[in-house]
Amino acid sequence: MDRIVLSRGGVVLEVSAPASGIVRIRMGRGKLPEDASWAVPAAARRARLPLKVTRNGEAVQVSSENIGARIDLRTLRTDVLDGGGKLLLADLAGRAALSPQGGFRMRGRLSSDDHIFGLGDKTGTFDRKGGAYTMWNSDTYKFTQATDPLYKTIPFFMTVSDRGQAYGLFLDNTWRTTFDFGKAERGVLSISGEGGPVDYYVMAGPAPKEVLQQYAHLTGTAPLMPQWALGFQQSKWSYKSDSEVRAIAQRLRSERIPSDVIYMDIDYQDRSRPFTVNRAAFPDLRQLATDLRGQGMRLVLITDPHIANAPGQGYAAYDSGAAQDLFLKLPGGQYYSGDVWPGAAVFPDFSRVQARRWWGDLYSGFVRDGVAGFWNDMNEPSIFNVPSKTMPLDVEHRIESDDFAPRRTSHAELHNVYGQLNSRATYEGLARLQPDTRPFVLTRATYAGGQRYAATWSGDNVSSWQHLKMGVQQLVNLGLSGFSYAGNDVGGYAGERPSAELLTRWFQLGAFMPLFRAHSETGRPDQEPWVGDAAHVDIRRRFISERYRLMPYLYGAAEENSRTGIPMLRPVFLNFPAVLANGDRLGGSEDQFMVGGDLLVAPSPTLESPGDYKVDLPGKGWYDYWSGQRLDSKSVTVTPDLANIPVYVRPGAIIPKQPLVQSTAIVPEGRLELHVYPGTDCHGDIYADDGVTMAHQRGRFLRQRVRCEESPSGLKLLFETREGSWQPWWSGVALHVHGWEAETPPQAHIDGTALAASVERAQNAAVILMPDIVSGEVVINPGAGYRASRKPMQ
Ligand code: NOJ
Repeated sequence: MDRIVLSRGGVVLEVSAPASGIVRIRMGRGKLPEDASWAVPAAARRARLPLKVTRNGEAVQVSSENIGARIDLRTLRTDVLDGGGKLLLADLAGRAALSPQGGFRMRGRLSSDDHIFGLGDKTGTFDRKGGAYTMWNSDTYKFTQATDPLYKTIPFFMTVSDRGQAYGLFLDNTWRTTFDFGKAERGVLSISGEGGPVDYYVMAGPAPKEVLQQYAHLTGTAPLMPQWALGFQQSKWSYKSDSEVRAIAQRLRSERIPSDVIYMDIDYQDRSRPFTVNRAAFPDLRQLATDLRGQGMRLVLITDPHIANAPGQGYAAYDSGAAQDLFLKLPGGQYYSGDVWPGAAVFPDFSRVQARRWWGDLYSGFVRDGVAGFWNDMNEPSIFNVPSKTMPLDVEHRIESDDFAPRRTSHAELHNVYGQLNSRATYEGLARLQPDTRPFVLTRATYAGGQRYAATWSGDNVSSWQHLKMGVQQLVNLGLSGFSYAGNDVGGYAGERPSAELLTRWFQLGAFMPLFRAHSETGRPDQEPWVGDAAHVDIRRRFISERYRLMPYLYGAAEENSRTGIPMLRPVFLNFPAVLANGDRLGGSEDQFMVGGDLLVAPSPTLESPGDYKVDLPGKGWYDYWSGQRLDSKSVTVTPDLANIPVYVRPGAIIPKQPLVQSTAIVPEGRLELHVYPGTDCHGDIYADDGVTMAHQRGRFLRQRVRCEESPSGLKLLFETREGSWQPWWSGVALHVHGWEAETPPQAHIDGTALAASVERAQNAAVILMPDIVSGEVVINPGAGYRASRKPMQ
């Protein structure tokens, strides 16, 4: 048997196990809800592992691989169990969740030591426990900590206990829903909605990372982004002319601020009409794109979903969409028209394949001109001059897509997925237009699973210390919700202009964010990295440059995300679940964050304050990233210094870095650096490919694991066999072994041949030069210089 279907009191329940550790539960009145989804592709949704079903009186016990359920036949209450039969989530509602009037209210038990994360970039508290959140994509200019809902709907969360045990829940329902985590009723999780299916998945973990992998199994991972999208991106509403865009590019280069992208916001268009260009201001877009490309810079253009309602004016986007009948209509049959940037506008029905294809094709001109990426904004969708800030709920969509039965439905069902489908149309269009180029799409609104199509950002934040801090937490929670590739507007978008200190701190933290984009509202003073006095500009340049040095590590983290769903930016507890037992601000997870598995960034919990603060590291023997020094203690007291943000490295990390370049389009010269931080579980990964094409999917990549082993007689570096056919840019490697305290270099050799070695005091490192090897072993005899050799780490 691969599913169990039960019915009681007019309610039908289905339980299945689509994959190891995952149970899917559907429930409906009279019949099961439609088996279709915008988030979970059919293959993942319809797979069913065998179930073992036993009945004991009124209780049915179901078990499958690493997951189980216990159903009460009278109430249809369905408790979810782990593979060992231990209770994960007790159901308190059963069939009573469905109200006869339509709508539902599921209830479950929350355990008192559970913390709750996810739901995308919602503000409120970092740990969602005790809060209640609504899913309704909303344009929330200058949102605050108290604003809810925001731009996105990601109805997925995970609970993590103090012992680091986790499970996840994803409700695949695009309607307006509410998640209450013990706010209305202590200890009770309640999820309610006005409509849509009760169709949810519980993921058994048990580690938080496993929950994310299970969620990624269902909703997919982000494709590997082009490497340039990891570079620094400069945006503003708006750079208004060809010459202004060129001047910004020129200044970035002359200031030696590494950068890859310039964004063009709405004012490049003719009267804010999507898919037009104001030719007076931008006479030759192709030439502009070409010239910027020559400087290692790419263009990203905004293209909003609102098409100016301009019949008979020779506006191609309107005319072609109208000719194919692709715009949304009111129940009476006339177009729905709402005011946005172009004035009256119509809206494509992205729930139809045909509309998505048409939309994707609109990009052909820009793609031919050499525009590298696209920004889908205002796609909640946002409408001006109406109290609801969006379109009326009775606007009709005609779903014709995926495995949905073709049908008409109201905007109430499609609202929360509109932005996701808009970005999907863009992504799929770009993939069709340039099959061998990785698309780059940035979207503001989205729904679960939208990570397959687009990166995102947290919308219209404010230039304030509170927003800087909140922004980090938003990105961490987005990463725990499937969206790794995300950023905040660096410097803040709205409000008062940021002070020089605030702007500098924002660049410092932004340098560690997956999407590193500076952006600000029209009418505000300049906010580019060079604004302010030289001391500030120097600090910003240093951090942006450090990001470019770290590019091989960051790109490796992006690649890992594309395979596993584990985000680039991580709360400390994701890598070290045991920290939650420390209790203090979730073991530091509220204020600190990790980039990949090895770097822990530790800004002050009160960023604006000059007061000392304490950082508790997840274990002993961590290293200071900036000095390369090994720390004696597990906890560090930091005196804030504007020039610096403390970063610590996991003992056992091997971090690839590269020589500084001003753009990812420039091939670095010299050696790949491997920074070795001896400790337990010592390993690191090198990943490289061409950064822009799909050739990595055809084997043109390079992947190599490097491990290190300590023994009293030395340190051994093992280069495991390299995979893939990509030829790297480096011909040699510089090993930087940190924690080196002696004045004299170690002796190092490869296959009996001695290697040149020196000491770099400022880095507390022994530097060993070696050839690039596809496999093999380097032996470093540390002599007296390397502390860990005297006392191997536990
Ligand atoms: C709203 C977006 O959130 C913002 O980033 C953009 O600058 C404006 N729309 C204008 O396009």
